[in-house]
Amino acid sequence: MLHFFTKKQKNAIIYSNQIFSNKHTKNTYKKISYYHLIVRTQILCTKQTLHATFVHISLPIVHYPLPIVHYPLPIIHYPLSIIHCSLSIIHCSLSIIHCSLSIIHYFCPVNTEIISTGDGSCTLRNEYFGETYHSINGAVAESMHIFINLGLRSFSKRDLNILEIGYGTGLNAMLTFIENQSLGNKIFYHGIEKFPICKETFMPFVVHTPDIASKINTDIALQFCDGWNSEIEISPTFHLLKQNIDFENFVPDRQYDLIYFDAFSPDTQPEMWTMENLRRIINSLVPDGIFVTYCCKGILKQTLRDLGMIVKRMPGPKGKRHVIRATKNIAQ
Ligand SMILES: C[S@@+](CC[C@H](N)C(=O)[O-])C[C@H]1O[C@@H](n2cnc3c(N)ncnc32)[C@H](O)[C@@H]1O
Repeated sequence: MLHFFTKKQKNAIIYSNQIFSNKHTKNTYKKISYYHLIVRTQILCTKQTLHATFVHISLPIVHYPLPIVHYPLPIIHYPLSIIHCSLSIIHCSLSIIHCSLSIIHYFCPVNTEIISTGDGSCTLRNEYFGETYHSINGAVAESMHIFINLGLRSFSKRDLNILEIGYGTGLNAMLTFIENQSLGNKIFYHGIEKFPICKETFMPFVVHTPDIASKINTDIALQFCDGWNSEIEISPTFHLLKQNIDFENFVPDRQYDLIYFDAFSPDTQPEMWTMENLRRIINSLVPDGIFVTYCCKGILKQTLRDLGMIVKRMPGPKGKRHVIRATKNIAQ
């Protein structure tokens, strides 16, 4: 099975298997809690064999230790309990049953550690990808510079479709919502994200980012984290669709005026920056539409030109010399 995975994923799987096969101390539970895993559980009871119960452990494991008595076997009959019960069963099973686990799909480690950045705002660090979601020189300063100043501010008082690749914390979306109150556009904002962060990660991020916390109340902020895969009206002039999908499977079904391309770096996730992937979203840009990103690699500039974009290198935010602002050639 392991040949399906990249090297980093294999390491994570091996690491996770080690955790599972170790004695389960509180610490190892905490480590597991950083991972989103889909696990194949095989439970061999004395009288029957249950195969292939798929367990998606997606919540921070804050319930340790759960008494197994709450989760009678066979767990296959208790799908809602599965998330909580699986670790307890692993824990208890060592003596009462044989329980083997194999990870069939590695989701993403979620590191809930919040890092403060140079401008007093916060970002998150993703341990698996080894990258922060924003610049450590200033998360809000970076987002404002690249996505708001070079992107959003080119539009006012009109209908505006925005696509963001790599929705992450929702920071770009929330800043767009705030800034648009003076720009007066009617925005449809479409965020694409493979690994949505949970509320327990999102809320502290908002609280520790004063530019957001002082301008958006908690109920509104929560809508930037909750309610995936359906369009939400945050205000009459701001509709939000957060789509939980792998960018590689995303096929745009509308035209966009502005694209925020905010994937992790090409060194970390080269697959996000391929010509094939970029072509799909550039094709969905209206003539004269704008594409902005923090990356300014020569190969990206060339790829965008090959896709019919007029590429401009712009001064970057603190700590970064240049960023890209590209416009779709009107003749395309
Ligand atoms: C640089 S961070 C984005 C930061 C975000 N724009 C914000 O304001 O917080 C990159 C994001 O891309 C997401 N991502 C990684 N691989 C992805 C994929 N294949 N499809 C969609 N999103 C992906 C990551 O989970 C992460 O949230």
